[in-house]
Amino acid sequence: MGLLQSENTRMNGEMSTATKRKREDEAHRPDLNTKRKKLLETRRQLPIWSRQKDIRAAVREHDVLVLSGETGSGKSTQVPQFLLDMFKNGKIAVTQPRRVAAISLARRVADEMGTPCGSSSPASKVGYSVRFDQSTSPSTRIKFLTEGMLLQEMLRDPQMSQYSCVIVDEVHERSVNVDLLLGFLKQLLAERRQSKNPLKLIVMSATADIEMISNFFSKAHPISRGHTSADTDADEVSSEASWQGFSDDEADGAVSPDNKVSICHVEGRQYPVKTTYLAQPTEDVIDTALQRIFKIHCGEPMPGDILVFMTGQETIQSLQKLLEELAENLTRDYPKLLVLPLFAALSQPAQQRIFEPAPPNTRKVILSTNIAETSVTVPGVRFVVDTGKAKIKKFRNQIGLDSLLVKPISQSSADQRRGRAGRETAGQCHRLYTEDGFQAFEKDNTPEILRCDLSEALLKMKARGVDDVLNFPFLTPPPREAMEKALMQLLQLGALEEDGKISKIGQQVARLPLTPSLGRVIVEAATLECLAEVIDIVACLSVESVFLNVDTEEAKEKAQEARQRLFRRQGDHLTLLAAVQAYASESSDRRRWADDHLISHRAMKGAMDVRKQLRAQCKMANLFPDDSGPESDNEPPSEAKSDDILKAFVRGFMNNVARLCPDGSYKTFIGNQTVAIHPSSVLFGRKVEAIMYNEFVYTSKAYARGVSAIQLRWLEEVLGS
Ligand code: CDP
Repeated sequence: MGLLQSENTRMNGEMSTATKRKREDEAHRPDLNTKRKKLLETRRQLPIWSRQKDIRAAVREHDVLVLSGETGSGKSTQVPQFLLDMFKNGKIAVTQPRRVAAISLARRVADEMGTPCGSSSPASKVGYSVRFDQSTSPSTRIKFLTEGMLLQEMLRDPQMSQYSCVIVDEVHERSVNVDLLLGFLKQLLAERRQSKNPLKLIVMSATADIEMISNFFSKAHPISRGHTSADTDADEVSSEASWQGFSDDEADGAVSPDNKVSICHVEGRQYPVKTTYLAQPTEDVIDTALQRIFKIHCGEPMPGDILVFMTGQETIQSLQKLLEELAENLTRDYPKLLVLPLFAALSQPAQQRIFEPAPPNTRKVILSTNIAETSVTVPGVRFVVDTGKAKIKKFRNQIGLDSLLVKPISQSSADQRRGRAGRETAGQCHRLYTEDGFQAFEKDNTPEILRCDLSEALLKMKARGVDDVLNFPFLTPPPREAMEKALMQLLQLGALEEDGKISKIGQQVARLPLTPSLGRVIVEAATLECLAEVIDIVACLSVESVFLNVDTEEAKEKAQEARQRLFRRQGDHLTLLAAVQAYASESSDRRRWADDHLISHRAMKGAMDVRKQLRAQCKMANLFPDDSGPESDNEPPSEAKSDDILKAFVRGFMNNVARLCPDGSYKTFIGNQTVAIHPSSVLFGRKVEAIMYNEFVYTSKAYARGVSAIQLRWLEEVLGS
């Protein structure tokens, strides 16, 4: 009876919450409807609008549609809506390479459909799912998600049975994850075609180079099917000029039937953009950008926002500081400047600010990495300032590691950047390099799969049951040597068995939304019973820098003093832990605490979010000893526990270990390369027996970042585990 009563009370409670939500939805409905109607006018102006019928027909008649169109032509927002009523029995997934795009698109499409977004209401039809943030409802029909999240979902549900249609967007970015997804989807299409619930695939790209993708899907995979790609010839079957249909040669029975593929190109709408170059190359790109931004701001009439392409967080923050200082001295004759950064590690609310209109008489200056190149359309931009550089991930064979290198962009990237200035009206593109410099750029970007560490990709494949990774249908097969190296690394991490099959540890690691190295650290921490602490550190490593950059001597001294209490002699990992613990136990004013310690409040808030999600995931994976989850007491770890925390990191980062040499330098174990401790590290200038680090960066020289002191004997101990 008692039980029944409490059940009833609970159900009444649930019903009243549901009713409350329903009422709230209804109260919002007029608002949503007005927004929807207003946006419908804008949608009708998009170049893709008139192609709705063609797109629907192509999807109906083919397995795969490859759709190309300029950024801003309406692909990402409109195509899912065009197709929604064709898929009554399943959802539509739309993948994006970046979190910021997945979230902003979900919000935009929800507005266009007049429905609430994400988990805000049980009636919401549009949701999103990105690493560390899921926002869907039981009624979600269109789900925007990062490529990584869809790959994670595939591990749990290999048939992707909840989806009737997958839209893979922005394939021109050619991230490793997108290449992997295309390979898996090619296999899955064949499997699902036999079922009652066949899958449709739409692949979208901002560049016209789609022939290769359509060939990839229309032809049988040479190895898995036992035929060579020459066995099937693409046939043009459709009449309309920009449409082509490919079907494989089923009639002669020579080849196992593969996918029917259709191609479509949507013309973009681009206003003229005046392009200028420097007469001489610049030595100081930040200063040149600063001057150019003020020249535009003071010389060009409003409206018209400025989008500046920079290399990464550090350069963006330096320029932001300079701009804000100078903007304060602007006389009242000029509009105000609102400087907004945009980079991947930035928290979501901060990223979303770029979409908000500027206050009156204010010009927005958005300082972005290449995120704004194609993934995100920032409305209102009329001026682009392009530094011509980007930070790219490159696998360095010599040291067997991924490093972030600042490199010149490709010509096609430069043209995409320029295009951002001509979206709404005629614009200007200021290239901060010479015309000869532009000519020397490579024509196109190299796919990431050819230049990065493949261990994460291969682990995902293994976890999905692809044992013969060397014969996987890759759009561009990576060099065999790189694959073998990645397999060796997985073996060393204990993620694979000797026979190449995925191990139990490998399965656990693959399900965590982290690199194999960090995933392995987490699994090891569970064994060493220091998981809560290690999660705190991993959370900090997953967000922008927690410690703010200080450049003046005075600020440096102040920072040193304020942070003294947090610094740990063992290095950056335990220092980060001390910072998280101090922040988390601050009950009165966390923002003030962060300011006092020259710590980024934004980064800390982000780290707390990640920590929450990682704890939940580890709990789900039964990694906490008593299945109760962490009772975080924010107690400083004992000496022995501190060692265990660092040992857990060593287990995942065995390749990132360097020992002190008699000449005072550190040399990596693998590759015997000299590596210096980065000035941002608390170990900077210190000499210890050996160091372990999370990241290898090459700027003026080779630096280790995220560094801790370790004992060499730990290596043997850890290897035994
Ligand atoms: O995918 P594609 O680059 O072809 O275009 P889209 O992302 O569908 O964007 C079409 C238009 O919708 C853009 O030009 C923007 O005006 C608008 N949009 C927006 O205002 N906010 C977003 N988050 C996404 C798109």
